Amino acid sequence: QLAPLPPMTPAFLKTLNTVCQQCYRDFAPDDVELGVREHILQDLESFVKRQFTGARLRLFGSSKNGFGFKQSDLDICMVLDGQETAEGLDCISIIESLARLLRKHPGLRNILPITTAKVPIVKFYHARTGLEGDISLYNTLALHNTRLLASYAAIDLRVKMLCYVTKVFAKLCDIGDASRGSLSSYGFTLMVLFYLQQRNPPVIPVLQEIYDEEKKPEVLVDGWNVYFYDDLDKLVSPSIRQKNLESVGALWLGLLQFYTETFDFREHVISIRQSAALTTFNKQWTSKYIVIEDPFDLNHNLGAGLSRRMTNFIMKAFINGRSVFGTSVKAYPPEYTSPMEFF
Ligand code: CTP
Ligand code: MG
Repeated sequence: QLAPLPPMTPAFLKTLNTVCQQCYRDFAPDDVELGVREHILQDLESFVKRQFTGARLRLFGSSKNGFGFKQSDLDICMVLDGQETAEGLDCISIIESLARLLRKHPGLRNILPITTAKVPIVKFYHARTGLEGDISLYNTLALHNTRLLASYAAIDLRVKMLCYVTKVFAKLCDIGDASRGSLSSYGFTLMVLFYLQQRNPPVIPVLQEIYDEEKKPEVLVDGWNVYFYDDLDKLVSPSIRQKNLESVGALWLGLLQFYTETFDFREHVISIRQSAALTTFNKQWTSKYIVIEDPFDLNHNLGAGLSRRMTNFIMKAFINGRSVFGTSVKAYPPEYTSPMEFF
């Protein structure tokens, strides 16, 4: 049982809100940086085409989903013209020969093929920009979940801001790196989106539940339905009558409270594809405490790789966050210079 938070003064909420907004302004890449990423992609594509005629490279992940940082990695997916899926391809040997080819690229360093992972990749370091990146093959579902996240980011600026605050929080608390046993950025983004859907009134709708036809359309990719409503200009928010007007600061504190006081991790799954509650029992995912369902690949639990120890560590970070951000202390400078001071 957590001690109740003291009442918030308007001045404190205002500071909290400014800090959250500043987080977005400080860390979001500008158009020039986004252009640099496209440029690297073009350059790599023409280089890769020397050996793999018909190769196409596409950016996904945070370079495209609206939640990228200046130093976020370059997530790249390669496909071959005329080949719809990876079926019949020897992905491991393609990745290995891709690695041999990339070693000849003058602008790249530290080429490392990783063929034992669920999704085989070749990692690289782009020397001029200092960006790291990886290339995977036919990571088609990731291209679709990137589009889904980008649509949510485009609905309301507060979505973006809150995802930035959460990603900074996760990095600073050392709980946001799946390769080191914690949760991926993607997992945290799904947690934020779920909270914003569950907020009363909601900040964002459930795009996978909205459709013009009588029945939900079916767009199958790797056996999963990747349909979602993407005509955002036409989107009439279901909460239009009682639109959510909370500040980002209030929503951030609300998020920390939601995951420490309200959400029942034992019973429920974090799932952004439907508004009705989904139970861990329904999914037969009762052995884990933090359960996050991928919006398209319904067999994929983003929390599956968390140890019990790491789960506790993540929950403690949220509990500490709740008391740090929920308690107004005089020692906080009223005119801070960077959101970092607050964290
Ligand atoms: N992805 C996925 N399933 C996972 C992890 C990642 O589908 N379990 C996909 C998502 O599309 C995600 C992308 O891979 O956006 C890249 O993952 P990652 O680099 O970990 O996250 P980003 O969203 O790119 O965030 P960051 O800025 O930290 O790179
Ligand atoms: Mg990334």
